[in-house]
Amino acid sequence: MTTDFWNERYASNELVYGEAPNEFVALNANLIPNSGTALDIAAGEGRNALYLASFGLDVLAIDQSTVGLQKAERLAKERGLTLRTQAVDLNDFSAEPESFDVITSTFAHVPQAIRAKVHTGVRSWLKPGGVFLLEAYAPDQIHRDTGGPKDPALLAPLGTILQELDGLEIVHRASIVRDVIEGNFHSGQASVVQVVAKKRTT
Ligand SMILES: C[S@@+](CC[C@H](N)C(=O)[O-])C[C@H]1O[C@@H](n2cnc3c(N)ncnc32)[C@H](O)[C@@H]1O
Repeated sequence: MTTDFWNERYASNELVYGEAPNEFVALNANLIPNSGTALDIAAGEGRNALYLASFGLDVLAIDQSTVGLQKAERLAKERGLTLRTQAVDLNDFSAEPESFDVITSTFAHVPQAIRAKVHTGVRSWLKPGGVFLLEAYAPDQIHRDTGGPKDPALLAPLGTILQELDGLEIVHRASIVRDVIEGNFHSGQASVVQVVAKKRTT
């Protein structure tokens, strides 16, 4: 899906994926520190990035959609939070090794080559002890009309994602069906994959 597609989707005043953070990210709040740095991959309108910022983290939200990121910046101002944003194609993003304590990625459905490159990046960008939280629609979701892309090439099985994250300690892995009610476009029972991964300290 193109940048224009996402800019159009985010053009309305309402928050298309809602105001609350992704439920899986929120469920893992105990893993989010009160200081340090965070990266939200494919941040959209910034619901997770803003949530991370509310912990006191210095957050960078990246997405290809300038419209989504402008909404995130506006919300940050309204809530008295600081947020850094970068409009970038995930294929072109890079960061310093060991620069983030927390990295989140929710519903970042991109072609296999980009996803693998980003996940290789995550392995490098995390600080030792840092945590990566991922939730995405699973390949099975293609048969449901509750959200997600209709291109099967954008949906990865859990095993593939775990391979891409090889070297990180996998703290939680799941391929489950759960109710995903997160805005107008995530609207019911859905097949999802979830990962919590940590970078080892030694
Ligand atoms: C389904 S939305 C999820 C947004 C956000 N993570 C959330 O859960 O609310 C997918 C996001 O991925 C972004 N995206 C897709 N492909 C991308 C790419 N190649 N580079 C940067 N962003 C991309 C889109 O712009 C869109 O904001």
